[in-house]
Amino acid sequence: MATIELRHVWKKYGEVEAVRDLSLTCRDGEFLCLLGPSGCGKSSTMRMVAGLEQITAGDLLIDNRRVNEVPARERDIAMVFENYALYPHLNVYDNIAMPLRARRIPRGEIERRIREVAEILSIVQLLPRSIKNLSGGQKQRVGIGRAIVRHPRLFIMDEPISHLEARLRADMRTELKRLHRRLGVTTLYVTHDQLEAVALADRVAVMQSGVLQQVGSPAELFDRPANEFVAGFIGADRGYRGLQFLQASGLPLHDISRVGEWELATRPDGSPLGWRNADGLVAGGSLLPANGTLRQALDAALSSPSGVGVAVDADGKVIGGVRVQDVLEAIDHQKISHQKSR
Ligand SMILES: Nc1ncnc2c1ncn2[C@@H]1O[C@H](COP(=O)(O)OP(=O)(O)OP(=O)(O)O)[C@@H](O)[C@H]1O
Ligand SMILES: [Mg+2]
Repeated sequence: MATIELRHVWKKYGEVEAVRDLSLTCRDGEFLCLLGPSGCGKSSTMRMVAGLEQITAGDLLIDNRRVNEVPARERDIAMVFENYALYPHLNVYDNIAMPLRARRIPRGEIERRIREVAEILSIVQLLPRSIKNLSGGQKQRVGIGRAIVRHPRLFIMDEPISHLEARLRADMRTELKRLHRRLGVTTLYVTHDQLEAVALADRVAVMQSGVLQQVGSPAELFDRPANEFVAGFIGADRGYRGLQFLQASGLPLHDISRVGEWELATRPDGSPLGWRNADGLVAGGSLLPANGTLRQALDAALSSPSGVGVAVDADGKVIGGVRVQDVLEAIDHQKISHQKSR
């Protein structure tokens, strides 16, 4: 296990200041996402951590040891990038075996580890197949397999799934999260997709123009965005929280019924999952009242720091409540049972 600490780190490419005075710690076992728009310095940060790029100024510590000058291969970091850099002329087994063979690990041990990884990633049947004939999602799994087979102390992943098609990306997100729960390896993960960051991360570090804007749990970013940029980027200012989780979940939304101007998406057991109006999906949760007054509850919940809103009837009697957190939990839950049932 390991920690990563950046202390007042700068990256300059000539006149370009790609990373400016970045101080950030990735805790032991944590899944930390670097989130920000294109060109904000995410990859530059990752490449410095990986040892692929010189640090212009500041200190990089891994496990409390300064490693600025330590070469990449001695940092014990496994990397997964968007282009997986698999060897197209080799089969899946040999691709995954590559980092172990390079370390002169005995054959029997290689065999054992590859079986283990293949089972974790459900790619046992792909092992003899040629890389050339794999789909994008399958290649993705192989790339991740090759990274985890080494038992590294750190993972760094730079937009590993951003070019996959939406549905597959949702599946891979679930898989990455499960993998992290199972292996507990400290992970630094880059994305420009806030859905992905919020779905995966223990904490999210939001960057803009090379400068760290805020680091915190997804809930902290939504509830207490440090500035307008963070609020806008994460969607907290638009009340999009429910919307984006519903969209990100990739759930089958055919279970929809109409209530006034709202459409109600339900789970297979009939309980409410989320609501949408003409503007799109807005919010949801198990506490939602199934009637037309929920607009008020939704608005209250989405604009309140607590994420809770209530609907009252004409007499002021509380008839239902909305907790934005329920959307997240409902979807997490639904997603898992959906996967199980396949
Ligand atoms: N080798 C380089 N030489 C000069 N400038 C560079 C180099 N690499 C990156 N930059 C510049 O540094 C800034 C940060 O780039 P970086 O690749 O870190 O951004 P990013 O956040 O990963 O963006 P994206 O989401 O598009 O991948 C950009 O302005 C980029 O043009
Ligand atoms: Mg990048």
